[in-house]
Amino acid sequence: MTHKRVRTAIFPVAGLGTRFLPATKGTPKELLPVIDTPLIQYAIDEAREVGVERMIFVSHPSKAAIEHYVMDDARLRATLVDHGKSDLAHELEEAALDTRDCEVIFVTQPEPRGLGDAVACARPHLLDGPVAVILPDDLILGTPGCLREMVDAYDRGKAGHLVAVMEVPKALTGRYGILSVTAEDGRFVQASGIVEKPEPDKALSQMAVVGRYILDPVVFDALAQQAPGAGGEVQLTDAITISSVKAGVAGFRFSGRRFDCGSKQGMLAATLFLARDDPAYAEVFEEYLAPEDIAPVG
Ligand code: G1P
Repeated sequence: MTHKRVRTAIFPVAGLGTRFLPATKGTPKELLPVIDTPLIQYAIDEAREVGVERMIFVSHPSKAAIEHYVMDDARLRATLVDHGKSDLAHELEEAALDTRDCEVIFVTQPEPRGLGDAVACARPHLLDGPVAVILPDDLILGTPGCLREMVDAYDRGKAGHLVAVMEVPKALTGRYGILSVTAEDGRFVQASGIVEKPEPDKALSQMAVVGRYILDPVVFDALAQQAPGAGGEVQLTDAITISSVKAGVAGFRFSGRRFDCGSKQGMLAATLFLARDDPAYAEVFEEYLAPEDIAPVG
């Protein structure tokens, strides 16, 4: 099978982020930072690294701050320059998604009907060829980025759907899409399908999907007919499985380090992981992370 270029990336960002309330009452969870960089920025950087031509954000009307964040803010940059902060102004310009190298489209998911439904909302705006889906909650740190590795692997693989996978403890299968593994071949994991969040005693493997997908467009035909699945939501996992009869599905073991930033523990772990190698925070670690030095509160 000859694969075409991945030209479109979809970012499902409509979720209400209830696990991070009250912070997410005023700030979308995708804008919560790991140190100073919002989660969405890491996701965007991965998509940029593979040169996608169009980014589609499937959002919610209450989350207009995401649009504000990803677009250029010329007035803010001018103010920074006036205050002698040209470097910062330049950094913001570089990070902003402007129309020179990539089109940006925001669509609304009318109802919170699940990840599959969110991805389906992007359908009218797709460029041709396979499509990347990036879940910003899943922060994956590594060089090259996870999506870069997957795009490179995609042409070598035989499956139309390629999903990022990692092995998880058996007790945790109920949190992930789990591959029905048929064979392993280096970093590729061949599968006959994916089951969404099976209980440990029902899981056919411990090979879990994390939030990076390269999908053959046939998945959108399956999504169009998709009934709600696990948790009463329209599951992307189910549409991948159904359309894998035509396209094939495989997992790809990425090399980066993944943090579940949909959880507070994951956010803290990612923050510590990034900070510990940065001399700017050495003193903080010395002062606060030697247990004997932490005075009891109160
Ligand atoms: C989603 C997918 C699931 C996948 C997970 C990775 O679930 O439905 O298959 O394993 O992302 O983070 P969610 O965590 O959004 O419930």
